[in-house]
Amino acid sequence: MCLLETCLSSPAFALIGVLAVGYLTLSLGWKILRGFLAHVVSEWWKTDLKKYGGWAVVTGATDGIGKAYAQELAKRGFDVVLISRTLEKLKKVAEEIERESGRKTKIIQADFTRGLELYDSIEDGLQGLDIGILVNNVGMTYTEGSVLFLDVTDIKKRTTDIINCNITSMIQMTRIVLPNMVKRKKGLIINLSSEAGTRPYPMMTLYSSTKVFMDFFSRCLNTEYGSQGITVQCVMPLLVSTNMTRRMETNLFVKTPESFAREALNTVGYVSRTSGCLSHSLQSYAVRYVLPDFLLLSPLFPRLSRMLDKHVQDRMKAE
Ligand SMILES: NC(=O)c1ccc[n+]([C@@H]2O[C@H](COP(=O)([O-])OP(=O)(O)OC[C@H]3O[C@@H](n4cnc5c(N)ncnc54)[C@H](OP(=O)(O)O)[C@@H]3O)[C@@H](O)[C@H]2O)c1
Repeated sequence: MCLLETCLSSPAFALIGVLAVGYLTLSLGWKILRGFLAHVVSEWWKTDLKKYGGWAVVTGATDGIGKAYAQELAKRGFDVVLISRTLEKLKKVAEEIERESGRKTKIIQADFTRGLELYDSIEDGLQGLDIGILVNNVGMTYTEGSVLFLDVTDIKKRTTDIINCNITSMIQMTRIVLPNMVKRKKGLIINLSSEAGTRPYPMMTLYSSTKVFMDFFSRCLNTEYGSQGITVQCVMPLLVSTNMTRRMETNLFVKTPESFAREALNTVGYVSRTSGCLSHSLQSYAVRYVLPDFLLLSPLFPRLSRMLDKHVQDRMKAE
């Protein structure tokens, strides 16, 4: 008998096989169970968010996912602080929320592309509020869609704007609200990252890099402050129909902001890192097989990505 045959027929080899299959089965079973709890059971058995406090603060709250979070939180009994860039839109959304939910609102106009000087006035605006939830939603990407790093329009300003908007805002807003949450031993911080933050996505290099920062920041903070009653959740959506995605048509894969925010809020208390809804969780899993790392990071990908982007733009022009 050759050496290979001896090894294959040995009891030790059989044991390793059984352990490996057992481990894979258990870890897959655990993932399915967590997904089932977070996306199915949570529809009926929701975490009581009101335990966190009376006010929720949402950045980038006048459109898209941020607006939907603000509306959903108001529906669930929170007074809401809306922070965004455009005063007219802030007033309109605040008025809508107050009318529809009967909750109080407060608006703070802020342009998060600016630097640290911005945060003193935000801190003043939030003084004295019992803030239970912070949603760090504001975010931006390149204006051109998929593009090589050096082809970003007005690269010096745009890259700084993206870092200020996607990263600095999250860090500074967390620095402002966290001390009181720690004092009260309760609080929820939700950070809107992206599927583009789960792996490196070329052609949206800076966006993808800021989103992985959000993921690491959330996971570290969740560990540091979990024992003090603070939950930090990182939400990593795929496609939601908003201005950022040029209001693309919704379907099984592309969510409306409203249904996304509702489902994502249901996952609080079940998972601290999530794609946000069942459809996106399944897609996130599948996309790793359709677009494996070796293809995503191959020299072919930039060309593929440009072709896809052009196809989408042509279709939108034709509509
Ligand atoms: N949509 C998606 O498919 C998708 C997928 C994955 C992750 N995400 C993430 O989800 C978050 C929300 O995206 P979205 O698609 O809802 O975006 P959106 O539709 O473009 O809305 C952005 C919101 O942020 C505000 N905003 C933009 N720039 C700002 C600035 N410099 N200062 C202050 N407020 C600013 C806008 O207010 P004004 O109109 O006043 O500027 C608006 O209320 C982002 O972090 C994004 O990266 C989105």
